[in-house]
Amino acid sequence: MNYTKIAGTGRYLPEKILTNFDLEKMVDTSDEWIRTRTGVERRHCVAPEQTTSDMCVEAARIAMEEAGVGPADIDMVFVGTTSPDLIFPNCATLVQHRLGIPACPAIGMEAACTSFIYALATADKYIKAGESKCALVIGAECITKLVDWSDRNTCVLFGDGAGAVIVKASDEPGIIATHLGADGQYKELLYYPVGASKELHKAGTDEASIMMTGNEVFKVAVKTLGNVALEVLEKAGVAQEELDWLIPHQANIRIIQATAKRLGLPMEKVILTVQDHGNTSAASVPMALDVGRRDGRVKPGQLVLMEAFGGGFTWGSVLMRV
Ligand code: ACO
Repeated sequence: MNYTKIAGTGRYLPEKILTNFDLEKMVDTSDEWIRTRTGVERRHCVAPEQTTSDMCVEAARIAMEEAGVGPADIDMVFVGTTSPDLIFPNCATLVQHRLGIPACPAIGMEAACTSFIYALATADKYIKAGESKCALVIGAECITKLVDWSDRNTCVLFGDGAGAVIVKASDEPGIIATHLGADGQYKELLYYPVGASKELHKAGTDEASIMMTGNEVFKVAVKTLGNVALEVLEKAGVAQEELDWLIPHQANIRIIQATAKRLGLPMEKVILTVQDHGNTSAASVPMALDVGRRDGRVKPGQLVLMEAFGGGFTWGSVLMRV
């Protein structure tokens, strides 16, 4: 059992869809601006009473069904999110309880948009160390609850959802290499100013929302994502042309195009969901993986590179055979 292999995937998207035309009525923007600058056409938004753990449970049930595993088969739970229900207990414990998964490690991963990749890379290490046989790994966000809906710089970008995978120890090739990184010097470019140590972005008020210097984030993201992709390929001794699919974090179509170009991959080899989902942060990569698998494009045995970049900055990639 030398590999960590995907045994099932699932996704959940909230019912409510907000289009660019809806946003035109809310802030000074246009469908044309949003589409050409970001690639986003619509996004799903959670209902006020819905939480991240609600969406995790829905996505996890689908992944478990496909993998043919029940709660008692799962021996680790990871939830990557930047919009957890609570500061504690962590979201993974809430999900574990609601799915009836017996006592096991339940780990919350907080690395902004890279949270799912961090979680999957960590699950891989536990499985390869022989300490886990079947792990539930989720990336989920209700990030629209953290957005200032009067700020056109950020509110047009984000959406909600959850993506889940079941990974198992396997003899067949699965995850081949992972690569994680972070550089904390960039905190001021992208952050959410609330925690146990509260930094209020509007002096004298309790209001908080995502703080982002978009164009600066853009520049570092383009540079970093290209490097991250090449580093994991080099680590695995795999050539760029061997890749069947790139499944990137869906933040911005222009960032994705730049990464694909750096890898010498045509856009036909990229799974794109940004147009329908917007930037769902930690949920974007597992949901895109699920979309690609379920519509039949991503086939068993193919070589897939997943990668993400987010606040921190954090970044990471996973190279695997599906
Ligand atoms: N509608 C119309 N005009 C707008 C809008 C909008 N929604 N938003 C900004 N503009 C205006 C700006 O005010 C600016 O106007 P000005 O020139 O008069 O000042 C102009 O458009 C250009 O603004 P820029 O910020 O330079 O535009 P840019 O081309 O960089 O696109 C964007 C902005 C889409 C945010 C881009 O920079 C981006 O995608 N950045 C990366 C975001 C990202 O990847 N985040 C990381 C993940 S999030 C996470 O980790 C939680």
